[in-house]
Amino acid sequence: MTSTKRDFLAVTDFDRDGLLHLLERARRLKSGEEGGPLLAGKSLAMIFRKSSTRTRVSFEVGMTQLGGHALFLSDRDSQMGRGESMHDTAKVLSGYVDGIMIRTFAHAEVEELARHATIPVINGLTDLLHPCQVMADLQTVQEVFGPSLEGRTVAWIGDGNNMANSWLNAASRLGFRLRLACPEGFDPDADILARAGSAADVALTRDPAEAAEGAHVVTTDVWASMGQEAEAQARATAFAGFGVDEALMKRAAPEGIFLHCLPAHRGEEVSAGVIDGPRSRVFQEAENRLHAQKAILAELLG
Ligand code: CP
Ligand code: NVA
Repeated sequence: MTSTKRDFLAVTDFDRDGLLHLLERARRLKSGEEGGPLLAGKSLAMIFRKSSTRTRVSFEVGMTQLGGHALFLSDRDSQMGRGESMHDTAKVLSGYVDGIMIRTFAHAEVEELARHATIPVINGLTDLLHPCQVMADLQTVQEVFGPSLEGRTVAWIGDGNNMANSWLNAASRLGFRLRLACPEGFDPDADILARAGSAADVALTRDPAEAAEGAHVVTTDVWASMGQEAEAQARATAFAGFGVDEALMKRAAPEGIFLHCLPAHRGEEVSAGVIDGPRSRVFQEAENRLHAQKAILAELLG
């Protein structure tokens, strides 16, 4: 238990230098320049109130590689599933473990957990934000284009969801251009969009081709996120024309790459030709979850 702690609930919890330091640390952890038992004897509780493959495995393996240990807690077999509050859960876990990673629905729940925990809390995805994913995405962009993100253009095509909001937060801190194309009614969070718009070169359009023009990174995500399964049909209709296909990628810069946080639906938000094609970096991006996670863990729990 510690008295001062640092959380990672949003990309904007760190300033520009802090984010660049995390990315540099992720690079060094990946290359092997840094490593070893940085978190020997430390434990991370991982609360999953939604499904996960990448987030669970990367955090759990990341803790093991850093000499620590991770525990998986789900609603099915913890008292949270029977209604125990975030307040009580935060206080109890703070007495056992050194950090908490949580994936849930309402962002307010994560903030509540962080408020009452005396240990670092990491957001492993909420309906509002997915900050850990964007760190892995930025690491991938640096690997392809070099460390400087300034002057790069990122095109977000599709739903103004947790990933879109996190890209906006990243743009507001790191100064790359962000072009978003979202159908009407599916815009990013209005406050996050406004804040990013006052800090960075950000533009929202209804036209995917306009957003993708000259982009170094074209990225998208599922049209129905976890918790929106009942809306899937209506969303598929609303998002017609917002799929990333070969024609849209032709609009991007010649060296432009495709990213997707995964899981993906081929034939919906992205064509098989793009996600499985030469410009796709999605598996490099998925691997980078491990390195980005380790950097966040080492920084917050170390
Ligand atoms: N991208 C991502 O967060 O994947 P999982 O849902 O598998 O964790
Ligand atoms: N927007 C997606 C991301 C999954 C990693 C969701 O929230 O389900």
